[in-house]
Amino acid sequence: MKVSLKDSEKLIWEQMRTPTSSSATHCKTLPKLLLLLILFVSLTYVVYTLKLVSTSRACNNDSPFLTNTLVTSNINATATSTVLRRESRETLRTELRHVVFGIAASAKLWEQRRNYIKLWYKPKTMRGVVWLDENVNTTTATSNNNTESLPPVKISGDTSRFSYTNRQGHRSAIRISRIVSETLELGLRDVRWFVMGDDDTIFVTENLLRILRKYDHNEFYYIGSQSESHLQNIFFSYGMAYGGGGFAISYPLAKALHKMQDRCIQRYPGLYGSDDRMHACMAELGVPLTKEIGFHQYDVYGNLFGLLAAHPVTPLVSLHHLDVVEPIFPNMTRIEALQQLTIPMKLDSAGLMQQSICYDKSKSWTISVSWGFAVQIFRGVFSPREMEMPSRTFLNWYKRADYTAYAFNTRPVSRNPCQKPFVFYFTKAKFNSTVQEIVSEYDRHRVPHPECRWKMDDPSSFDKVVVYKKPDHHLWDRAPRRNCCRVMNSNKKGTMVIDVGMCKEGEVSET
Ligand SMILES: *[C@@H]1O[C@H](CO)[C@@H](O)[C@H](O)[C@H]1NC(C)=O
Ligand SMILES: *[C@@H]1O[C@H](CO)[C@@H](O)[C@H](O)[C@H]1NC(C)=O
Ligand SMILES: *[C@@H]1O[C@H](CO)[C@@H](O)[C@H](O)[C@H]1NC(C)=O
Ligand SMILES: *[C@@H]1O[C@H](CO)[C@@H](O)[C@H](O)[C@H]1NC(C)=O
Ligand SMILES: *[C@@H]1O[C@H](CO)[C@@H](O)[C@H](O)[C@H]1NC(C)=O
Repeated sequence: MKVSLKDSEKLIWEQMRTPTSSSATHCKTLPKLLLLLILFVSLTYVVYTLKLVSTSRACNNDSPFLTNTLVTSNINATATSTVLRRESRETLRTELRHVVFGIAASAKLWEQRRNYIKLWYKPKTMRGVVWLDENVNTTTATSNNNTESLPPVKISGDTSRFSYTNRQGHRSAIRISRIVSETLELGLRDVRWFVMGDDDTIFVTENLLRILRKYDHNEFYYIGSQSESHLQNIFFSYGMAYGGGGFAISYPLAKALHKMQDRCIQRYPGLYGSDDRMHACMAELGVPLTKEIGFHQYDVYGNLFGLLAAHPVTPLVSLHHLDVVEPIFPNMTRIEALQQLTIPMKLDSAGLMQQSICYDKSKSWTISVSWGFAVQIFRGVFSPREMEMPSRTFLNWYKRADYTAYAFNTRPVSRNPCQKPFVFYFTKAKFNSTVQEIVSEYDRHRVPHPECRWKMDDPSSFDKVVVYKKPDHHLWDRAPRRNCCRVMNSNKKGTMVIDVGMCKEGEVSET
């Protein structure tokens, strides 16, 4: 459908161009003619001026008769092509109904893990299947009335015929790797993308769509991201989409995979997991990973704060390993903390956890906002190139603090006791329709700070930060750029007011 549309657009385009370019070449020869004409005209001034005017008009095209028909058909062509383009944007845009989620789960952890799925899955607007290794107690699954917010559960096909020889891994990897094929076999209609995730993965589905819309679902695409861990990427591959972070496979690619996946899986009995098996088959198909760094595998331990406070300038698509890391907000359970994150997610998913960096010049403070998550105030001036690096609040996949462990740059939490950040965590937000802005609030995390002898204002004089931001649903329709923030005047003691939004003409993060 898309192909034929493109062809017709091309035809129209060519029709539009041909007459214009030929008339352009005719116009070039005109100056010489004009010179001759001017000589001629100087002799018979009055009569020939009129003629000159009429020939210059005819320059648009050789034959005035032809010109007319071409011009009108051009107008019609332009009209149709704009109509076509508008239609293609509206009817061809990828929506949630074009996506099918394939969630890898196990009966053993289902009772607990399903709570993560309930946080993001909306049965009314989404399609998906949870693939389990064996039946779960459906009495408990339905008794507490939660089935409505969960996808249907299915049991994966038998995989005992496949050999699995990896000593560290588990043969459930084969079952999980086949989820794409098994989901395809359900024969659901109008599917453009299959999106895989684990039972402990959370998707920000609107941002997932923002990413998928960048790609033509009629082509072969394998979209996801690598691990944070350099060593994991060496053991597996920098070119592999890590399963927990989630990945997307376009429909035609899923079909091509389905044709060969079982044979392919047999060829790699020694691999560890499901995602490396998938990667092996993608390599056989010759399809590389399209890297989108908003998918987060989070192969780390400890506190995600550093990573979430300095999110790359790309939509936040997924979070994973939520059982492994600490709750993302203090004094809450993991589920409560993630529920808290759904408040800003609903108000402005595009801006979720997007960082902006500004300075309070009078106090010599650096301020970093991770919208909907946290605000940090630092004593002293840090350059944006430093602030955009995640601080090492987390441990590596081997539970060590090792700055060489990651596939990206990091910075120490603080180099000087005075520079330990004052952190304000997101508490609430609402949309103010009068000013058309989201007002979000952040409360100071009251933890002891080391003694500081600097003669500089103490950020602990603030208990609260209020951030104003206009919802910006088209943030990612533009070229990627960090938002700007500005410290505003506040007439409330103990409250800092910050404005976040698109950078204005000439505005940069500088002191
Ligand atoms: C241009 O389009 C209009 C309306 O769509 C139609 O009435 C007209 O005949 C068309 N003209 C030509 C030259 O095709
Ligand atoms: C299934 O759930 C019901 C109700 O909660 C419970 O009575 C029963 O023991 C459970 N069965 C198993 C096998 O866990
Ligand atoms: C489930 O929820 C519906 C309304 O959403 C309610 O009428 C029903 O009683 C609930 N069932 C159980 C078992 O809680
Ligand atoms: C969080 O819990 C700690 C102790 O666990 C307590 O000191 C602190 O006041 C609590 N903070 C909030 C905001 O409830
Ligand atoms: C919205 O903002 C205006 C102007 O700051 C304020 O007067 C009004 O009370 C706000 N409305 C709500 C519902 O917060």
